[in-house]
Amino acid sequence: MNTQQRILVIGANGQIGSELVEALAAQHGAQNVIAADISPNNLYNAARYTTLNVLDKAALAALVASEEITQVYQLAAMLSATGEAAPLKAWTLNMDGLLNILEVARERNAVGKPLRIFWPSSIAAFGPSTPAQDTPQTTVMDPTTIYGISKLAGERLCEYYFIKYGVDVRSIRYPGIISFKSPPGGGTTDYAIAIFHSALRGERYVSFLGPQTTLPMIYMPDAIRATIELMDAPAELIKVRSAYNVAGVSFNPEQLAAAISRKLPDFKIAYQPDSRQAIADTWPQSLDDAAATADWGWQARIGIDEMVADMLANVDVSLGKAA
Ligand SMILES: NC(=O)c1ccc[n+]([C@@H]2O[C@H](COP(=O)([O-])OP(=O)(O)OC[C@H]3O[C@@H](n4cnc5c(N)ncnc54)[C@H](O)[C@@H]3O)[C@@H](O)[C@H]2O)c1
Repeated sequence: MNTQQRILVIGANGQIGSELVEALAAQHGAQNVIAADISPNNLYNAARYTTLNVLDKAALAALVASEEITQVYQLAAMLSATGEAAPLKAWTLNMDGLLNILEVARERNAVGKPLRIFWPSSIAAFGPSTPAQDTPQTTVMDPTTIYGISKLAGERLCEYYFIKYGVDVRSIRYPGIISFKSPPGGGTTDYAIAIFHSALRGERYVSFLGPQTTLPMIYMPDAIRATIELMDAPAELIKVRSAYNVAGVSFNPEQLAAAISRKLPDFKIAYQPDSRQAIADTWPQSLDDAAATADWGWQARIGIDEMVADMLANVDVSLGKAA
C-alpha cells in the first residue's frame, strides 16, 4: 500500500495482538500504530498505547476520529472455553465489540473517511454437521458454543455491512493459533501450547483433548502473515466478505507429542479429556482454503516439525503453565 496507514489494534495485549502490533509497527512505523486494550498494561516500546473498552462506542469513535485511523484490527473477544463459563458476557463482548466498530466504519464512510477493518472469525463457527475433512469455504455451519455462534453471527454482520454500507471489512476463520510470546487466551486448542511448557520443564503433559482429536492449527508467523496479506490486498480481490478459510497445519495430540519426542526423546504424554473435548469434537479436522489462495494468494509455509523446533527453542517456561 502506498498511502500512509494509521492503524488501531483493539485487544492488543492478547495472544495475537501482541505479535500483530509488532509486525504492523515494523511495516508502518511505530508512530502510526496504536495498540489499545481494556487492560492498563502498556506492553509496547514499538508502538503507541492507549486503554480502550471496545464496548464504549463513543470513546472508540472519538479515538478513530482524533487519530485519523484508516485501519482497525478488532481482536477483543472472549474465546471458546472461557466463553462457555460466561455465555452472556461472551455474547455481549463478541457481538457489541464488532458492531461498534462496524458502526464507526459506516459513519466514517458517510463522511468520506473510509476505514478498513479486520475482525477474526474462527473454526469454531463450524459445527457437528459441517463436513470435518477439507471443510469447504461455503458449507453447513451449526456452531454449538456461544463463541462459535457469535463468530457465525459476526461473519454474517461483516458481509451485511459490506453489501449494505460498503464497509471494507475482511476476516479469516483462524485455526488454533500456536505461539510462544504470550500465554493463550482460553481456547480449546491451547493444549498445543501448554504441551511445550511441560515438555521443556521435563514434565509429563496431561492433555485435555484425546490422542486422536485432529484440529486445524496454524503457527503464529503464518497467522500474522495471513492477516497482513489479507489486509494489504486490493479491495477488488476480496470476494469473500464473511470470512476466509485459512489452513496452516492439521494434527492431533498424539502426532504433536510424537513430533516433540523426536526432539526430546524422554517426553511423555497422558490423556484426560475434559469439557473442551466436546467442543473440539464439533470442529473441523482440516480446512479447504482454496478461495484464500485464489483470491489473495494465501499459502501456508510452516509445517509441524519446523513449528516444534521453533517452539522448543523459544518457549519461555517462566510465562507460567498455560491451561
Ligand atoms: N488464539 C486463537 O487460537 C484464536 C483462534 C481463532 C480466533 N481467534 C480470535 O482472535 C481474536 C484474538 O484472540 P487472542 O487469542 O489474541 O485473544 P486473547 O484472549 O489472548 O486476547 C484478547 C484481548 O482482548 C482484551 N479485551 C477484552 N475485553 C476487552 C474490551 N472490552 N475492550 C478492549 N479490549 C478487551 C483482553 O484484555 C485481551 O488482551 C479473538 O477475536 C479470537 O476469537 C483466536
